[in-house]
This record gives sequence, structure tokens and C-alpha cells, in this order.
Amino acid sequence: DKAGHRHFMAKEIAEQPSRLTTALNHYLAEDGTFRLPGQGLDFRAMDRLTMVACGTASYACLVAKYWFEQIAGLPVDVDVASEFRYREPPIPPRTAALFVSQSGETADTLAALRYCRDKAATILSVVNVAESSIARESDLALPILAGPEIGVASTKAFSCQLVVLALLALEAGRQRGHMDEATHAERLAALRSIPGLVNHALGLSEASDRVAAKLAEARDILFLGRGRMYPLALEGALKLKEISYIHAEAYASGELKHGPIALVDKSVPVIVMAPHDELFDKTVSNMQEVMARGGQVLLVTDREGANVAAHGVWEMLVLPDVAALWAPILYAVPAQLLAYHTAIAKGTDVDQPRNLAKSVTVE
Ligand code: F6R
Repeated sequence: DKAGHRHFMAKEIAEQPSRLTTALNHYLAEDGTFRLPGQGLDFRAMDRLTMVACGTASYACLVAKYWFEQIAGLPVDVDVASEFRYREPPIPPRTAALFVSQSGETADTLAALRYCRDKAATILSVVNVAESSIARESDLALPILAGPEIGVASTKAFSCQLVVLALLALEAGRQRGHMDEATHAERLAALRSIPGLVNHALGLSEASDRVAAKLAEARDILFLGRGRMYPLALEGALKLKEISYIHAEAYASGELKHGPIALVDKSVPVIVMAPHDELFDKTVSNMQEVMARGGQVLLVTDREGANVAAHGVWEMLVLPDVAALWAPILYAVPAQLLAYHTAIAKGTDVDQPRNLAKSVTVE
């Protein structure tokens, strides 16, 4: 049931405010305490967190790496499951292993989990399907409560994964004494405001549609982001190529001059994901390098960013202000909308893109 939407993907994008609220309410008690099933989790007993996933779920892990390291001072490594499983990575004691999967059945992710079984101190998972193999084989499985996701391109599962990982990072930071009470409360309040902001961001659908008419003509598209927005650039590029079949690549903004800038000319739209945060000026100078070579920049930013960096850009999508830490959750929405509308403009099968399966149960 598409609930009046043209595609499941559109429905699932639109559902995000309510799904995110459900996930937040599931893990937070009235007074803001974090609730976990069973014995809970002792983040002080961990020296390292190893996160493993595939595709979009691996980008959620990459965002979470920035969070765990900054908020909790907990070192994190992130791997795609197909690489992790065959590398025989050493798992030092006091390492927790965390697997993120919408379906909970992805063959490579499950194999990576089994590899960690007798090596990691604890096996955690963040899943959408609570009865899945990955959930069953974990010491602690945390549901994201996104509800069934039908569109092959993951949307609401990604944002719900991010919210659950954000809550975990906050809890880790609190337990490890890495932030004071006031900072914790402030960050938690900011996280609770995300569903409302996501609801606002859905209003960018029309503007995305307008921009998409031009994106649909491109052969190649670049995405740039810095810091916690780098994984969002990766997600934007993956989403776009999956459903519009346009070749899209993402780079950390700072990597531009180490190679990819050679691709830039006036036929290559460059989508820059950049809220006005502590790294904004650096991203803007990368953006100027692109524009100096004729690149058409689409800047996805907030009001302040739009005020100071509008000069010379081709188009802007302006999002509401958001705490810099949680911006990746909000900026997932324009990444999804751009892919969706570009696919529509190209006339592709949005919910069932060619060559892709919703659940990849063979390696
Ligand atoms: C992208 C997408 C895939 C999945 C990947 C992992 O839109 O849907 O990249 O994220 O196949 O699937 P799960 O999360 O089920 O393990």
C-alpha cells in the first residue's frame, strides 16, 4: 500500500518524521534516560568499536564513527562486510563488534558477524527486521523500528539507523564521562528535534524536482562533503546511481585536489552537502575551486550557509538550522529527494531498479 504516493520510495521518504519519532520514543524514557533491552551495555568496558555493514548501512556506520569518536572518545573502525570477512582482521580484547543491516539477512554482514563470534567481547546489531538472522545471532539486537521498507533504495531505514546510532553514541559519551550533563542534555534535546526538522526538509521536494530536471541530463555527477557530511555525500551518490543510473561519485571535499578535480568541467554538476558548521569555510574554498573550472555547483546548506556562499553557485537547497552534530540525519532527506526526482525525470523504475535486490542473501 503506497498510501496515496506514486512510489513506495516516496511514501518511505515521507514517513520519516513519524518513524524517527517512534525510534526515539522506543529508546528514551520520559526523563530522557536511555533504555536498552536486557542487561544493557557497558561502554566503559570497550576500548574499540568495530562496525561492519554493506551499502547504505555502511554509510550509516561511517557517520556514527564521527559521533562515537567525538562524543564518546571511543575509537571506531568501519568496514564493508565483504572486505572485513576475508581479511582475517585481528579483534583485540575489549572490542565490541556492531553490525548494521536493514534486512538482517545480508550474507556478507552475517558472515562477518560469525567471524567475530568468539573473538569480540560483545556482538551488537542495529536491524530493521527484528526476527532476522543477524538479530538472532547477536548478543544484543537493537531494532530501528522503521517499519517494512519496500523500495529497493534504502531511505527511512538509513535515517532510523542514524537515530539509533546517535542515541548509542550519546549513551557511550555519558557512560564514559566524555561530556558533562549539560552538554548531554543539550545534544539529546537537539536529537529529539530532528523529526520536526525532517518534516520541514520534506518541503524541499518541489525544489528538488526543479533541480532534478537538469541533473537528469548529466552523464556524471560529483558529491562533496567534509567531516560528518562526507558519508552523506557517499549516500547521495549511491542513491542517485541506484535509481537514476547516472554515474555519481562522492569524495571528501579535501580530496578534490588530489585527483577528482580533473573531472570537473561545465557538464559535471557538483553537489556540495555543507551546513554552516565548523568546517564550512574549508568546503566553500573547495567549492570555489570547482566553480573556477566551470563546474555547476548545487549547494545543499542552511540559511547562514546560503547567505555567505551563494555567489556563483548554480542552485541551492536550503534546509532548516540543525545542531551540527546531527546534521547528517537531516541532510539525508535532500539526498533522497534529489535521487528520487532525478529518477522520475529519467523515467526509470524507482522502486525496482534494474539489477538490484532488496535483500542480498548471496555474496
Ligand atoms: C542502498 C541499499 C543497499 C543496502 C545494502 C545492505 O539503497 O539499499 O546498499 O543498504 O544492500 O542491506 P542491509 O541493510 O539489508 O544489510
